[in-house]
Amino acid sequence: MSSSWSWYVIVLVVLNLVGSVWLLWFTGKRRAGDPAPEQTSHYWDGDVTEYNKPMPRWWIVLFYLTIVFGTAYLLYYPGLGAWRGASGWSSQREHDAQRAENEARIAAAFAPYAEKSFEELARDPVARKLGQSLFASHCAACHGADARGARGFPDLTDTVWHWGGTPDDVLASVRDGRQAMMPPLASAFASDAEIDETVAYVRSLSGQQVDGQLAEKGAARFSALCSACHGAEGKGNPLLGAPDLSDSYWLYGGDVASVRTSVTTGRSGQMPAHGDLLGPARTRVVAAWVHARSSAAKQP
Ligand code: HEC
Ligand code: HEC
Repeated sequence: MSSSWSWYVIVLVVLNLVGSVWLLWFTGKRRAGDPAPEQTSHYWDGDVTEYNKPMPRWWIVLFYLTIVFGTAYLLYYPGLGAWRGASGWSSQREHDAQRAENEARIAAAFAPYAEKSFEELARDPVARKLGQSLFASHCAACHGADARGARGFPDLTDTVWHWGGTPDDVLASVRDGRQAMMPPLASAFASDAEIDETVAYVRSLSGQQVDGQLAEKGAARFSALCSACHGAEGKGNPLLGAPDLSDSYWLYGGDVASVRTSVTTGRSGQMPAHGDLLGPARTRVVAAWVHARSSAAKQP
């Protein structure tokens, strides 16, 4: 809060308090010449008169006490502009303390899993349940509630892994995140026709129906421009997160338009790092859950 706002608030609050005291004192005071309560001289119907009964003393005292309480409260807690209060309490500090307590409880609950292998975690029904609920709260927004992903967000239930599917690979994906970098390559082609040829070749790799002549012309361009990352046969490279282009799984789509967009404008999918957010034990539990679902898919 800037100091002018702080003073604005302080002045308003103090004026309110002082104003209340003054109002109480002013209205409760009897002045010389005031009529007695039974003589207010307001009459109706001849003999019905208004009676001026002062507030009861206990009520006045209570009012003063609330003002004293309010003043003390404002001095003890932060309420007067930027004044921090004599108690040192702040909502931020209270929140931090509760959060730390919560974190400690969670850490204790997950501690037994910190050292377990993925196999052990996959067999443990409690760990599986915890993994599933972690996935629902931290991963489902991107990968879908059923972990089957969407365009640009990989399906985690299949056996296709762009960054490797060993327990260590999956753990690293979740803990450290992944940044895919497929550069925009529109300017690497001399003409639109060259792009069409290359796209046709890429689609032929996964056995799609393409114009054979077109694809043939694209082959050389693929080895010149693409094979460094996607491999000579387009089988991908998990160190770069470069997808296998010869399988039937497409992160961004395998139709002509989608492949063309991938090639011309590039793709840079980002998996955010979760290690710091979740801590080692929870990261391991959720990664193991994901890995186990893919392993289950492998079984016939
Ligand atoms: C903000 C969105 C987002 C969130 C949240 C997110 N992911 Fe991802 N994740 C992605 C994207 C995008 C990719 C693909 C990166 C790329 O293009 O290679 C990815 C990739 C992955 C991969 C690698 C897949 C592969 O094929 O190798 C794993 C494993 C993974 N995520 C697991 C998780 C888990 C577990 C969580 C929750 C703890 C999670 N993700 C949360 C967006 C997200
Ligand atoms: C510098 C390395 C690199 C080069 C060079 C490169 N790619 Fe990629 N490519 C990637 C990476 C990494 C991804 C994954 C992007 C992502 O996950 O967001 C990718 C993704 C793709 C995709 C999307 C796949 C899907 O599942 O939807 C296509 C198609 C593709 N590349 C084709 C090509 C073609 C064709 C060339 C050559 C003209 C090429 N790439 C050159 C690294 C590269």
